[in-house]
Amino acid sequence: MEKFVIEGGRALKGEVKISGSKNATLPILAATLLTDGICEIRNAPKLQDTRTMCKLLKTLGKTVEMNGNQVTVSGSVHTHVADYKLVSTMRGSFCVLGPLLGKLGKAKVSMPGGCVIGVRPIDLHLKGIIALGARADFEAGNVIASAAKLKGTQMYLGGMFGSSVLATANVMMAAVLAHGETIIESAACEPEIEDLGNFLSALGANIEGHGTPRIVINGVKKLNGASYRIGADRIEAGTFLLMAGAAKSDMLIRDAHYNHLLVLIDKLHYVGVDVQKDGNDIRVRCKKTLRPANVVTHPHPGFPTDLQAQYMALMAITPGVSIVTDRVFPDRFMHIAELNRMGAQIRRDAGSAIIEGVKHLYGAPVMASDLRASAALVIAGLVAKGKTEIHRIYHLDRGYEDLDQKLIQLGAKVFREKE
Ligand code: EPZ
Repeated sequence: MEKFVIEGGRALKGEVKISGSKNATLPILAATLLTDGICEIRNAPKLQDTRTMCKLLKTLGKTVEMNGNQVTVSGSVHTHVADYKLVSTMRGSFCVLGPLLGKLGKAKVSMPGGCVIGVRPIDLHLKGIIALGARADFEAGNVIASAAKLKGTQMYLGGMFGSSVLATANVMMAAVLAHGETIIESAACEPEIEDLGNFLSALGANIEGHGTPRIVINGVKKLNGASYRIGADRIEAGTFLLMAGAAKSDMLIRDAHYNHLLVLIDKLHYVGVDVQKDGNDIRVRCKKTLRPANVVTHPHPGFPTDLQAQYMALMAITPGVSIVTDRVFPDRFMHIAELNRMGAQIRRDAGSAIIEGVKHLYGAPVMASDLRASAALVIAGLVAKGKTEIHRIYHLDRGYEDLDQKLIQLGAKVFREKE
């Protein structure tokens, strides 16, 4: 295992290029199961999660070549059974359910189970495929879905916590080869869903409204191959914006979609960070003392749950009191204990975190837990006095491409070391 050693207190200056979106890459790679044609996926981030999905596609019979940031997938899927070991290591791989069902009429996929950010239910995934005419049974922790033929229908896919990103993705991928028209009401609007819809269109699917709460799909008989470039990772870009606010920086964030980050940028303007659109890039400067602001997370276009931990790291060193509430994953607060080990003053009160900004954080050995909690610890380590060791950084390597290299380019003192 490896750790990051960060010597804090240095301002960050210079340019950073945002990688392709992890959360668009996973469903788009899964969607290649829908066609026997050659799919060239460009700008895919070189991440552990990308490699896991590629392995899963290979176990399902596809030919997969990874060459830098390009993944080429071809051949026919020859089994409907998704490998338990691979699916259990990455919850996102549950999104092979929809394309397997769409292409083969059957699928056997291990249930994703829970994780440190909370319970990961699948009721909306099942509601969607059953609405299309599939049967769903359970056997030894697997979902076994089957359908003689999938038939389009209108469905409402909103849940107690709002829309579901991967349930929307699974239903889209099951519907593109179904008979007739499918209308998904209360669909997830995340840019990753828009990216998936654009890829499905490139394959020849008849799909409209992706990126809005109402997606309309008319089934086609067959899909072809396509060449497609994954969009930039808005969560990585948002992580760097929050880092820039915390570390008093002057940063140009390249290949970042300003319009995917409006809620965060609006919040940063309020607290006092200067963020300007600069063509396809974002210029962010922060030299002055900030003021606190509360945040409540919601599905897109609300404040992303995937930026909640990183925002909390910024508020931890902002004078005053702020309240952070996660309406998407209410228990996603693993990072509080670790931030407090560094001198933060954060406490839980009912479903929220109350943050009293402190003048300084202090370097300490801390433990990464979930991907975004680990990113919060990196931000804290960059601004803390002294040295911070972040253990188990495989969590970070799942979702941030070459993060240590990118930080070093910005002037940070970060070392990747063996445990
Ligand atoms: C996706 O997970 C992302 N992962 C997550 O990012 C992200 O946090 C999440 O969307 C929310 O934006 C990928 O795209 C691979 P959801 P997903 O279904 O689709 C409830 C990261 O750090 N729900 O949108 O699994 C659920 O409990 C990861 O990159 C149901 O109730 O999340 C949650 O409260 C972490 N029933 C809410 O919906 C269901 O059937 C949103 O979850 C499914 C979900």
